[in-house]
Amino acid sequence: MNSAATREAFEKQLLEPALTRLSALGPFAEVGAEAAERPDVLAVPIGSAGAPAPGAGTERPTPQPRRGAVEAAVAYHADVAAAAEFQSVTGKAGEVLSLMAPREKSGLAPRLILLGVGEDTAAQLRKAGAALAKATFGTSLVRTTVVDGLAPELQRAFLEGFLLGGYRAPRAGTAESPKPIAARLEVTGADEDALIDALSTAEAVWLTRSLANTPSNLKNPEWLAAQARRLAADAGLECTVRDEVQLQREGFGGLLAVGSGSATPPRLVQVSYTPEGVRNPRHVVLVGKGITFDTGGISLKPRESMVPMKTDMAGAAVVLAVTQAAARLGLDCKVTALLALAENAVSGSAYRPGDIVKVYDGTTVEIGNTDAEGRMVLADGMGYAVSNLAPDILIDVATLTGAASMGLGRRHGALYGTSAELVSDLERAAEASGERVWHMPLEEVAGEYRWALDSDVADIAHITGEHAKVGAGSITAALFLREFAGDVPWAHLDIAGPGRAAADEDEVIKGATGYGTRLLVNYLQQG
Ligand code: BES
Ligand code: MN
Ligand code: ZN
Repeated sequence: MNSAATREAFEKQLLEPALTRLSALGPFAEVGAEAAERPDVLAVPIGSAGAPAPGAGTERPTPQPRRGAVEAAVAYHADVAAAAEFQSVTGKAGEVLSLMAPREKSGLAPRLILLGVGEDTAAQLRKAGAALAKATFGTSLVRTTVVDGLAPELQRAFLEGFLLGGYRAPRAGTAESPKPIAARLEVTGADEDALIDALSTAEAVWLTRSLANTPSNLKNPEWLAAQARRLAADAGLECTVRDEVQLQREGFGGLLAVGSGSATPPRLVQVSYTPEGVRNPRHVVLVGKGITFDTGGISLKPRESMVPMKTDMAGAAVVLAVTQAAARLGLDCKVTALLALAENAVSGSAYRPGDIVKVYDGTTVEIGNTDAEGRMVLADGMGYAVSNLAPDILIDVATLTGAASMGLGRRHGALYGTSAELVSDLERAAEASGERVWHMPLEEVAGEYRWALDSDVADIAHITGEHAKVGAGSITAALFLREFAGDVPWAHLDIAGPGRAAADEDEVIKGATGYGTRLLVNYLQQG
């Protein structure tokens, strides 16, 4: 893995995401016609129907043709109802019914896909998009009428489903790679803004996933900082990187303590997007946990829990990718991403339980368990943001606690916040983006739990001791972080659960999911 060839392979796949080119075509009237450039696949939507067709002699509902499906069926001489019956297709979202073009019609796409879209809701269209991407891997040109005439947000859902469901993780080696997403997708009746939104968002999600899927023998803090620098330069963003000497000089004690056991020292990356021609833009600061590998440190993790810990920098990847997307979309708020990067390793120089660490804002922290490293690097990042960046909004994103994943599973991020407005804005963004959140108690339990973080020897303890028996590991982590938010409206997103997936499911692909990216792009787009 240290070979130059492997490194190059990964970096190339990061910089040139093999995203499909999207293009808009006119309305679907001519889909059946013999086109100048013949697609490999024509995909038209079919929806769920209430009742079986009269006289169908079956209880199974017959799918309903939608936008262009009738025209396509005529052109292909297809008896869709019979084919659907034969293949048990009812028009549910994500169903794929493939038919061949009749031999004499050589101008038609050789394959017609009748794609189930259910009731045409955003979630169902996302699912349909992902199913189409998976059914067309390796093709050159796919044309679809699925979004024709739909509202822009529904178009976006379908297109994001397609682009995200077609993601492939970077690979190294000589084994043949699985076939990639279709090279081009032509969309009839497409809304230009929906295309741009979907493409920019999906590109950001691909970046987050690929960074988090990169193995940690390549991905140390320095490497990740270098990727951020390159991506920032490409996107025209400001970027500064602090190395361990600068971190020391400026008092980033959390990053230094967590990184002290590693052969590769910590970094703090600051990437900013400033909109042009906007006076006094709202400034949103995003802080990402960037542990490039989490062994637990001296409080070593059990071996099975350690396996997925190359993704423990997912929060940092999210904030970087979201800032890139903000620039691509030309949003009118200012966005600063802080990537708090360190490797939590084991060695004679590693920080220890019982140590007292002074973090950026001067607070001293008694270490209870070196595996609770995320909150230490976030304390530095948040403290720095509050003192130096004048944020209007502060949001941190972190694969912070196993407790969040235990409590909520893998489908919701745990959302905390000190501002009701910010929380509800994020809930709306979750609804729109398909990345679900669950609002967790914070202020209303502070009175009951905060004491458990009291320390006899420092300003604060970084975990609640066994003696405290308060449980609520994700909540108490949030209460620790809250100390570093100052008076800034702050939200905390614990993504330990949804940050990774054990298997493909619709637009979410096995491995690092990129969770949080879509959510925050949507949040920033609310303006
Ligand atoms: N990176 C882990 C949290 C995690 C666990 C992420 C599982 C993804 C999947 C974090 O650094 C950690 O180890 N947290 C500890 C905190 C504890 C020591 C208070 C945990 O959750 O056990
Ligand atoms: Mn840990
Ligand atoms: Zn961690």
